[in-house]
Amino acid sequence: MVVAIDGPAGSGKGTVASILSKKYNLINIDTGATYRCVALKAIRNNCVDDINKIIELSNNIDIKFDLNNNVYLDNEDVTELIRSKEVTKIVSPISSIVEVRKNMVDLQRKLASNSSVVMEGRDITTVVFPNADYKFYLDASIEERAKRRFIQNQEKNIDMSYEEILENIKARDYNDMHKEVGSLMRTDEQVYIDSTNMTIDEVVEEMSKVIEVK
Ligand code: DC
Repeated sequence: MVVAIDGPAGSGKGTVASILSKKYNLINIDTGATYRCVALKAIRNNCVDDINKIIELSNNIDIKFDLNNNVYLDNEDVTELIRSKEVTKIVSPISSIVEVRKNMVDLQRKLASNSSVVMEGRDITTVVFPNADYKFYLDASIEERAKRRFIQNQEKNIDMSYEEILENIKARDYNDMHKEVGSLMRTDEQVYIDSTNMTIDEVVEEMSKVIEVK
């Protein structure tokens, strides 16, 4: 079983995917984390402006997830590091590189090959698993998404102002919706949920209804 969730930054995908994974006993795969690992590795290799080197390092990157949603890059736990301001600022352009996307999509499909999964990202319902059993597009207003990210960052001690987050989300929205390959888009097959005025529990309930009816 594959539950695919797409949506813009800060729409709540990560939180609901984590709850749904526990509720339905699914492996939770945060595909944004795979692009964040490439970005972190590019920073560490001093090659954030060198597309060919970024492609090269994405060819052989070792990314793993454990059951608690921790992320490992070359066997190092980078769960927190990949959420840093530095990574967040460069990840969207890196995720636009077509060859990097090809490598990450292959990796994401492999990660899902032996289990039932809930997978969230930007192109899961359209590219990674176009035949997923359940397809959702989770949305919220840009101000609400920036507010949620600001609160999340404070909990994680990530120092970014609300204005800085809002600007970053605006830039990422534009970039994520205008990619040559794997753009974030709405389709008729997705169940669209605008969570601006909904609690997490309400969103989970609405998604659960869809999953249980089918
Ligand atoms: O969901 P996130 O903010 O952690 O994602 C980080 C970046 O990766 C985001 O700017 C868009 C990109 N991304 C993507 O292009 N395709 C995906 N399936 C997931 C994320």
